[in-house]
Amino acid sequence: MKILVVGGTGFLGAELVRQATTLGHVVAATSFTRPGTPDADWRTLDVRDRAAVRRLVDDVAPDVVVNAAYRQSDWDITAVGAANVALATASGIRLVQVSSDAVFSGAAVTYAEDAVPDPDSPYGAAKAAAEVVVQATNPTAVVARTSLIIGDGGSPHEALVHTLADGDRPGILFTDDVRCPVHVADLAAALLELADSGRAGVHHLAGTDALSRYELGLLIAARDGLDPARLPSGTRADVGLPGRRDVRLDCALTRRHLKTRLRGAREFLS
Ligand SMILES: NC(=O)c1ccc[n+]([C@@H]2O[C@H](COP(=O)([O-])OP(=O)(O)OC[C@H]3O[C@@H](n4cnc5c(N)ncnc54)[C@H](OP(=O)(O)O)[C@@H]3O)[C@@H](O)[C@H]2O)c1
Repeated sequence: MKILVVGGTGFLGAELVRQATTLGHVVAATSFTRPGTPDADWRTLDVRDRAAVRRLVDDVAPDVVVNAAYRQSDWDITAVGAANVALATASGIRLVQVSSDAVFSGAAVTYAEDAVPDPDSPYGAAKAAAEVVVQATNPTAVVARTSLIIGDGGSPHEALVHTLADGDRPGILFTDDVRCPVHVADLAAALLELADSGRAGVHHLAGTDALSRYELGLLIAARDGLDPARLPSGTRADVGLPGRRDVRLDCALTRRHLKTRLRGAREFLS
């Protein structure tokens, strides 16, 4: 399979490139501001440039495109960029769009694949808009919603836990902000499995354990030998943020069709 990873320099994108290469796929990947690892055909791309996205897809001629490019605070990159990728693949190229549990507000706590998005943040709205365009433009596309992505030390959340434990910056880990963290290796494997399948539509790819950011911090601290007593905890209200935010992706439907096991954080951080 010839695969194009858009956003290949990111935390998830780099793992996708690594695993796809190991599996023997022909891999092309895009970078925007950071250099890529040597094991792919790297192209520089700004997803906001519709013509450039089209030229790149035509030039690479992939069997499948996985879009993992985004910036949380940038509508044009997250929503318009995803639309540009969808348009460039609409001629029949398989597309896997990585989406997020941020399309849900948490009002219902648990969300299955057929739940209607109700985003309450600009980031969630951009991801929800991207989902709509992707599905309208490329009906065979997979929209893969995921949750907090954790690794073996490389994710922003793991870095934050280390910084807080070291006392290098102020901050707290919320006890009322709950997600279903997933390991980056499990997530990349599941995305590649979906990329190589005939599946279409919304899929949920999250870990089995629902944990607060503080509970997750404690698990990371235990794994990395940090003193858990040094981790500051608190609620969203403590820093003036509204309500609790408990968003759990119900992955039951997706799991029925997936060989890849998505471990819970208690297992992959033990
Ligand atoms: N991280 C999480 O916990 C989490 C949770 C739920 C869903 N997700 C979703 O998972 C996906 C990947 O997340 P991640 O954490 O791996 O992201 P990341 O590490 O921040 O990587 C983002 C990628 O997007 C690229 N990018 C940014 N602006 C671009 C532009 N204008 N044109 C082209 N590429 C651009 C970056 O390229 P450069 O690095 O070269 O600038 C990088 O490769 C995203 O779709 C995100 O919404 C993430």
